[in-house]
Amino acid sequence: MRLSTVALLPLFRAAFAARPFLNEPDTGIEDVLGNTPKGTLPNLTSIVGLPDFDYVARHYMNLSGYSYYRNGAAGEWSYRNNLEAFHRIRLRPRVLVDITNIESSLPTKILGHNFSAPFFISPCARAGYGNAEGEKGLVRGASQGNILYMVSDFSSLSKPEIQAAKTSGQVLFQQLYVASNFTETQRQLDQAAAAGFAAIVLTVDSAADGNRHRAVRFGVGSADSEYTYFTWDYYNQMRNSTRLPIIPKGIMSVEDAVKAVEVGAPAIYLSNHGGRQLDGAPSPLEIALEIYEQAPYVFNRTEVYADGGVRYGADALKLLALGVKAVGLGRPFMYANIYGDKGVKHAIDLMKREVAIDAANLGVGDLKKISPTYIDYRPNYWYS
Ligand SMILES: Cc1cc2nc3c(=O)[nH]c(=O)nc-3n(C[C@H](O)[C@H](O)[C@H](O)COP(=O)(O)O)c2cc1C
Ligand SMILES: *[C@@H]1O[C@H](CO)[C@@H](O)[C@H](O)[C@H]1NC(C)=O
Ligand SMILES: *[C@@H]1O[C@H](CO)[C@@H](O)[C@H](O)[C@H]1NC(C)=O
Ligand SMILES: *[C@@H]1O[C@H](CO)[C@@H](O)[C@H](O)[C@H]1NC(C)=O
Ligand SMILES: *[C@@H]1O[C@H](CO)[C@@H](O)[C@H](O)[C@H]1NC(C)=O
Ligand SMILES: *[C@@H]1O[C@H](CO)[C@@H](O)[C@H](O)[C@H]1NC(C)=O
Ligand SMILES: *[C@@H]1O[C@H](CO)[C@@H](O)[C@H](O)[C@H]1NC(C)=O
Repeated sequence: MRLSTVALLPLFRAAFAARPFLNEPDTGIEDVLGNTPKGTLPNLTSIVGLPDFDYVARHYMNLSGYSYYRNGAAGEWSYRNNLEAFHRIRLRPRVLVDITNIESSLPTKILGHNFSAPFFISPCARAGYGNAEGEKGLVRGASQGNILYMVSDFSSLSKPEIQAAKTSGQVLFQQLYVASNFTETQRQLDQAAAAGFAAIVLTVDSAADGNRHRAVRFGVGSADSEYTYFTWDYYNQMRNSTRLPIIPKGIMSVEDAVKAVEVGAPAIYLSNHGGRQLDGAPSPLEIALEIYEQAPYVFNRTEVYADGGVRYGADALKLLALGVKAVGLGRPFMYANIYGDKGVKHAIDLMKREVAIDAANLGVGDLKKISPTYIDYRPNYWYS
């Protein structure tokens, strides 16, 4: 009997579906660093890409600390999907294009502030688990690499301590979780403004506790565990109560992106909280695609940032191609901060280089001119 190709397709499909999830693809780090004694940090020069920092953290940190950083919600489908979604969208390279000035097009303005690259450090709580100096390495590394650091509300260091670690002129944004009690919210807004932060990043994806199995085993679940009264009116009221711009972080649908534009949000931040809050929530790439397909004007009407699963230069390019202005990275920088500012700076340098060389090989001569024509986002039968 002859089997047609069509009859065989389901078999190929099953074979691809069975491909195991790889937290970090095998690029040989085990062969090089596998004999590193527990509790010893490998030479930073042996870290050649951001996933290597995860490898180092897993071997260096204790299980409870590592579990807090690594954790995703429930069965961690969204955590895995954040990483894997990037591989479902392919690039469409152009050749014979002058790309020799690509590096000069990396600098990016975020809410009017100049930074050296279109990526930033996402707000992550409890840097102290990875480094006794807490957030200092993140503040200093961000300064040395001239990128934006968004400081978590639940940082290990206090807001004044973090401000004290800044270099002169360094711009930091403050992420906030707010309470239902507006008096308390007003106090938080005033405190952030007084401390010298340039903007508020308001996390809107965590109205309830996160469902964090991996972390709860070690008593290191979510620090924000209440049901919070939180509405668009509340957001507007907050904006009326501070001079700082307030960026909603955790937009996950085109409806909310459109709503944010309607109320005049200065920027929006697409995120499923690194897959830590609601398992099943879409990856930033899927959210950006939904907005691009249904309300593309959003990208022209407000600044759009996105994070979740970005590990390589090419990942960032796929989001930028859809109209995202800057992408955030959470875990990679938390793992890099085990080395303090040197690790954070090394991570920034690796990422900058990858964004530049990947854009060049994509045939993009000016990063500001990247567009959806550089990606192929049609559903692909073979790899779905
Ligand atoms: C250890 C850890 C702590 C986090 N803490 C916060 C937080 O305090 N506030 C917040 O808005 N998001 C928090 N997040 C989510 C990050 O801001 C970001 O959305 C996420 O890490 C991006 O995914 P990535 O880690 O795959 O880059 C945290 C993430 C991690 C990994
Ligand atoms: C770290 O790597 C650099 C460059 O390869 C090398 O010069 C240095 O001696 C190494 N340090 C250690 C402690 O292995
Ligand atoms: C930011 O960069 C622009 C050029 O893109 C420059 O004109 C401006 O002076 C810079 N602003 C600051 C505060 O450095
Ligand atoms: C794990 O490490 C963190 C940070 O160093 C420390 O606070 C915590 O007590 C350690 N936990 C265990 C179980 O050793
Ligand atoms: C609201 O917050 C303020 C300031 O923190 C506090 O004094 C007050 O008791 C709180 N009100 C309620 C109902 O919890
Ligand atoms: C915010 O201020 C504007 C202008 O003063 C006002 O029209 C609006 O009702 C206020 N919104 C809220 C939610 O307080
Ligand atoms: C967004 O702006 C660009 C550049 O001005 C323009 O080419 C494009 O048509 C606009 N897209 C939408 C959907 O408004």
